Order: sequence, then structure tokens, then C-alpha cells
Amino acid sequence: LASIEFDMSKVQEGQQVVIKWQGKPVFVRYRTPAELQKVEAEGAVGSPAQTDAERTKAGHEKYLVVIGSCTHLGCVPTFNAGEYGGWFCPCHGSHYDASGRIRKGPAPLNLIVPAYEYLSDTRVKIG
Ligand code: FES
Repeated sequence: LASIEFDMSKVQEGQQVVIKWQGKPVFVRYRTPAELQKVEAEGAVGSPAQTDAERTKAGHEKYLVVIGSCTHLGCVPTFNAGEYGGWFCPCHGSHYDASGRIRKGPAPLNLIVPAYEYLSDTRVKIG
């Protein structure tokens, strides 16, 4: 399928739901207020350096949507692990923050934000 729809209300605060899109896992994460505050306060970091706002949609900042594939060699990073409160890739030790930005380890790039849009308050179309 070229695109899929997903209901964001299925994700609990502080959790992620993993969906499949084009054979890849997509992480949909509902960040807690503390996580959001932290990633917003950090400004532009990662590679490329990006603010959290550049990686989310205005009005829906609590939700992050990223491809769940480590940008090093494609392993699936572990949720809520690592030194930056985001994900940890167990294959070679890459640490991502709760915005999916690479912060430490061999991965060269931030987790990829796929093209997506909100069709309503809670419904998104990915792809
Ligand atoms: Fe993730 Fe190597 S594949 S660190």
C-alpha cells in the first residue's frame, strides 16, 4: 500500500505503537509532557541538527512519527531506552532522543520522519 491511515487515539501517553508501512516499522510515539519539554528545550540537535518542531506537526507536537529503522544498518531500535530517553539500537549502540534524533553512536542520521498528514484531529495518513 502506498499510504495507510492510523488513529492516533490508539496510542497511550508515554507509549508507542508500531505499525507497518511499506514493509517497514513506523513508530508512533505519544510523548509525555516531561519528554516534550526536554526535546523542545534542547533546540536544534542531531544530524542534521533539527528542532523538535521541525520533526512534528504544528498543533500535534506531542506525537512523533518516525520510521523505526536505525539509520546505521537498519536494526529496529528499542523503545524508551538509551541515554537520551528515546530509543537505543542494540546492534551497535546508537542512542536516539525522544524526537528520534541521533545523539550518540555510529548511526549517521536522525530517524526518518515519513511524509504524513492529519486528516482530522486524530486520524493521520502516512505516505
Ligand atoms: Fe543501529 Fe548499527 S544498526 S547502531
